[in-house]
Amino acid sequence: MTDTRAILVTGGAGYIGSHTVRLLAGEGRKIVVLDNLVHGHEDSIIDTAVDFVLGGIGDHALLRSLFQRYDFSSVVHFAAFAYVGESVTKPLKYYRNNTAEPLALLEVMEEFGCKNFVFSSTCATYGIPDQIPITEKTRQSPINSYGRSKLMLEWILADCETAWGLRSACLRYFNASGCAEDGLIGEDHNPETHLIPRVLMALTGEAGPVEIFGTDYPTPDGTCIRDYIHVKDLAAAHAKALDHLANGGNSVRVNLGTGVGISVKEIISAVEKVTGQTVPLVLGNRRAGDPAHLVADPSLAAELLGWRATRLDIVETVRSAWAWMNGPKRGRYATKS
Ligand code: UFG
Repeated sequence: MTDTRAILVTGGAGYIGSHTVRLLAGEGRKIVVLDNLVHGHEDSIIDTAVDFVLGGIGDHALLRSLFQRYDFSSVVHFAAFAYVGESVTKPLKYYRNNTAEPLALLEVMEEFGCKNFVFSSTCATYGIPDQIPITEKTRQSPINSYGRSKLMLEWILADCETAWGLRSACLRYFNASGCAEDGLIGEDHNPETHLIPRVLMALTGEAGPVEIFGTDYPTPDGTCIRDYIHVKDLAAAHAKALDHLANGGNSVRVNLGTGVGISVKEIISAVEKVTGQTVPLVLGNRRAGDPAHLVADPSLAAELLGWRATRLDIVETVRSAWAWMNGPKRGRYATKS
């Protein structure tokens, strides 16, 4: 059964948020996006039935006015900073935004009796895993402030469940990738640090040669292996999580990945296949804090939510990202900070 009441989506103008909003609104759900546009783009919300509110998740007065105006059944919480490197140099910025600010949101949810929370967690909460593939039983031992800021919110959600019955779905994303195939919305961070857009930008001329961060890892080709999960598959998992909670399901903590590991060099090969161009490369040193190998065991999400990744061909994922890079909107985003 699909929920017919309004859903508050924080950070809905961001990369994963906007793809999720598009899917949820397309299913006829009433969506209200709250986004401060620090990193988001208002025109990535393309469905006219979506209400957009400019503001922050730490603003009690704004939140109260929204909860009074809309009868929210659930909150989907994307709003967060997500630069791992920056989190190491500016930990307080991350703990403030990713851990402290959501407390206001949770306080207002408690006040209004809204008890369903879907949370963008991350595989960065596992740190350097002691087993591959990573299951939800793998020890969570994050190695940077970003991962810790997200893990702490997972703990807070569990405490709210004990105290006042909040139910949550903590969705631990692996490497979000790809874009809507029509090129209308996509990945647009500034600065862009993620591998696939960074490699494509080396071809569009928006950035210089790609530096491969480390070629001496204990992997078959010496480069890091990640689990690249298509953003539209991630969006679909949020719809499943919302329905699971709306139908009275228990809280879940699940990995969202494909279960397939792909190396940095394999990504570069996929880009060369899609574009027909040779990627300019520099072989660099390891980037601090990069685990060699991160791949999900996604079976628990299948069991508990009935969700599975469906876009498993990395060439097609790269093709969708390339469609966005060359699409009608990308140009006007390119300069936004
Ligand atoms: N890489 C390069 N060169 C680049 C960019 C990346 O070699 O210019 C490599 C990285 O070293 C890594 C892989 O490509 O091995 C993927 O790097 P990304 O920066 O795209 O992604 P990460 O795996 O580092 O991080 C992503 C998200 C985080 C999230 C993390 C979870 O950016 O928000 O996944 O592991 F926490």
